[in-house]
Amino acid sequence: MHHFLAEITLSSPEDTALFARQLAAKLAPGDVVLLSGGIGAGKTHFARSVIQSLLLVPEDVPSPTFTLVQTYDTIKGELWHADLYRLNDPSELVELGLTDAFEDAVCLVEWPDRLGSITPQNAVHLTFKLGDEDDARHLTIQASSPRWAFLKDIATS
Ligand SMILES: Nc1ncnc2c1ncn2[C@@H]1O[C@H](COP(=O)(O)OP(=O)(O)OP(=O)(O)O)[C@@H](O)[C@H]1O
Ligand SMILES: [Mg+2]
Repeated sequence: MHHFLAEITLSSPEDTALFARQLAAKLAPGDVVLLSGGIGAGKTHFARSVIQSLLLVPEDVPSPTFTLVQTYDTIKGELWHADLYRLNDPSELVELGLTDAFEDAVCLVEWPDRLGSITPQNAVHLTFKLGDEDDARHLTIQASSPRWAFLKDIATS
């Protein structure tokens, strides 16, 4: 079970990027950020903003839709960006090395419902929903680990 931490309205892509950078600054190896929400909800935009703020050397951050994972060298060490939409079988997750990465790297995972029973207990769950205005998104933050309590402060600041 995970617990509700906060709900925020992100009024524009820039707003989402700002929140992403604030979260990114606090990340450490072993942290897993799960990004849920429908197609076009803003998961990749959020992940790209996190990654670009942490990269050691500037580079493009493509959506991992077809590669399933992209890895980056960042100021927080290795960072994995996964998009599991096209995952066929959970056994592929072990082959990809994602289960090991959950231990040692910073991991951002789109379509995390595909993880099933290997969903890390210590992960934070971010759920993006389209808002009434074109550029608004509603973000719900849930976690069971106290690790993520700081997000409540960011969300209400
Ligand atoms: N407040 C906002 N936050 C994030 N993205 C926004 C916002 N407003 C508009 N957008 C736009 O919505 C789109 C979100 O696309 P994105 O690729 O991030 O979606 P996604 O959730 O990763 O979808 P998919 O499931 O296809 O991977 C982008 O074009 C982005 O510019
Ligand atoms: Mg995406």
